[in-house]
Amino acid sequence: MRLPVKLKQGAWPAWLCRLLPSGPDPTPLAGPEPPAGRAEFARLVSALKVGATWKTTAPGRHRDADQAALGLLAAAEPTVLDVGAADGVTSLELMEQMQGCFARYYVTDAFLEVGFAQQGRRGYFLGPGGEVLLGVGPRLLAYGEMAGAGPLSRWLAGRLLSGPAPGVQARRLRLVQPELERAARQDHRIVIQAYDVFRPWPGPPLDLIKAANLLNPEYFGREQLALALGHLWRSLRPQGLLLLVDNVGPAPEDMCFSVLGKGQRRWAVRAQAHGGARAAGLAAELEY
Ligand SMILES: C[S@@+](CC[C@H](N)C(=O)[O-])C[C@H]1O[C@@H](n2cnc3c(N)ncnc32)[C@H](O)[C@@H]1O
Repeated sequence: MRLPVKLKQGAWPAWLCRLLPSGPDPTPLAGPEPPAGRAEFARLVSALKVGATWKTTAPGRHRDADQAALGLLAAAEPTVLDVGAADGVTSLELMEQMQGCFARYYVTDAFLEVGFAQQGRRGYFLGPGGEVLLGVGPRLLAYGEMAGAGPLSRWLAGRLLSGPAPGVQARRLRLVQPELERAARQDHRIVIQAYDVFRPWPGPPLDLIKAANLLNPEYFGREQLALALGHLWRSLRPQGLLLLVDNVGPAPEDMCFSVLGKGQRRWAVRAQAHGGARAAGLAAELEY
């Protein structure tokens, strides 16, 4: 990120926020009442970046991809893994498309929660090691990744990224849609758990794996992507499917996807749209 500082939307005129880099303030996620509505919750979670990846998500952006995968699925009551699900809004939608016909649905992400500390008019979103991911001031948002930042941005971001004063307590903040948390409490088939795609899947064999906007060459190198694809291959049943999705832009035609199955020691393309997901090209080169 070249510019770690953005204008806080709502604190400046809308025209200025359109002209200069700006973003929403995700602090309401830490309020006593989480934002009402799936779309608003997803919009605020999307303002966070942990490590290499943004938590960008939104409702309604995978419908055709989900439909294509479900149409090819052999299992009547599949076991599903959604990996890198962010707040799980797209998981809720896939469950709805499945009309509840699944044996188990694992909603997973490497970062289901962050730390949060409030000090005066500043809020701090903290990563797993206590590092500042995002500092929110009265007028500015400052992101912790300073690589490539110019001196002005560094100066502006400096105070926001110095973090809360010693003694200011941080608390854990869940980034999962409240509606999904409720569904998981009521339905034991829905499991929300932390899972890192670069580690072997510790759960049961799977019929459908969905990895949307995660196995992205802008986030991860070739070796890492191959490692993740290997773990997913080994966790998938012989007739299972891997759905890869890339939303490369906001329009429906910007949603590229590939549905991969297991061929002879190789991934085989069962369906794709708009050129397929970017990781599918690498997947085609791998042999198991
Ligand atoms: C861009 S979001 C995609 C959210 C959702 N799948 C969608 O397409 O709307 C990428 C998500 O992957 C998660 N992530 C990053 N690294 C991961 C890893 N190694 N294993 C699992 N999830 C990871 C991030 O925390 C983030 O929530």
